[in-house]
Amino acid sequence: MIKQAIIPLAGLGTRLLPLTSVFPKELLPINGKPGIEYILDECIEAGIKEIIFIISKKKELIKTYFHNDHFYRKIIKKKKDKRIQYEYKKILKYKKMIKFVYQNKPLGTGDAILKSRKFVKDKFFLMLLPDDLIINNNCSKSMIKIHKKYKSSVMASMTVDKKTVSRWGIYKLKKKLDNENFIINDVIEKPSKKNAPSNKAVIGRYILPKTIFSKLNHQKPSKGGEVHITDSIRSLIKDENKFIAHNFKGKYLDCGTLDGYIKSGLEISNL
Ligand code: UTP
Repeated sequence: MIKQAIIPLAGLGTRLLPLTSVFPKELLPINGKPGIEYILDECIEAGIKEIIFIISKKKELIKTYFHNDHFYRKIIKKKKDKRIQYEYKKILKYKKMIKFVYQNKPLGTGDAILKSRKFVKDKFFLMLLPDDLIINNNCSKSMIKIHKKYKSSVMASMTVDKKTVSRWGIYKLKKKLDNENFIINDVIEKPSKKNAPSNKAVIGRYILPKTIFSKLNHQKPSKGGEVHITDSIRSLIKDENKFIAHNFKGKYLDCGTLDGYIKSGLEISNL
């Protein structure tokens, strides 16, 4: 069973400046609800029991949002507004599940994940990148099903335009299991069009083995100075660990750019 999820939230969010100059992007509302709550709801519906948030001192507002604030608790009790009471209870429910871990220097997703090492209990855990919303179908839930069936690591995947491969982690296909699931041979972080092994990209949902921590611990930063999770995945694949790319059914929304963030709100409001 996959019971723990890790969500790295310690990045700077520079693509959404100036919105992110004081406010963490994960708290920006998407159709009236902070983006991170869509991710939390996906986790809960998929059966996750504990969620590790990796934040930084710059992003402590995230901790404040999920804090059980006495001041507001009193006011809300008096108000008797059903919607606010429901939302407040929901935040309390989230709060009980969340553990906060700090990464004070944004040295990459791999470095962020490494910070949670001592809290991970089981052989496998779920990792979600909060910029990547997947709506209409619970991607984490279907990935957990695949993990149970094949006892392997799983990553969400989709086909992207060849011209955009340098924006993604791109994988190489080894074997088709069925129309939605493929065993992969290799994965390269942000390859050039020339070096890309395909136009199949990894999207921000991963079921990873605990053994990835020893890889991350020894991994050197890439050219850009960041430790990417993709490089440790690559090394696990080389060591014969099975990784499955899962073509998810839902619709992908990229909330990490201003254009994508605006479109996500419109898309969700039309559901
Ligand atoms: P990104 O690199 O895509 O986003 O990280 P970013 O750094 O937040 O924003 P930009 O690129 O400056 O606009 C993907 C996810 O990993 C987290 C981010 O918070 C984001 O959720 N992250 C990234 C960390 O937690 N630590 C890091 O060192 C880097």
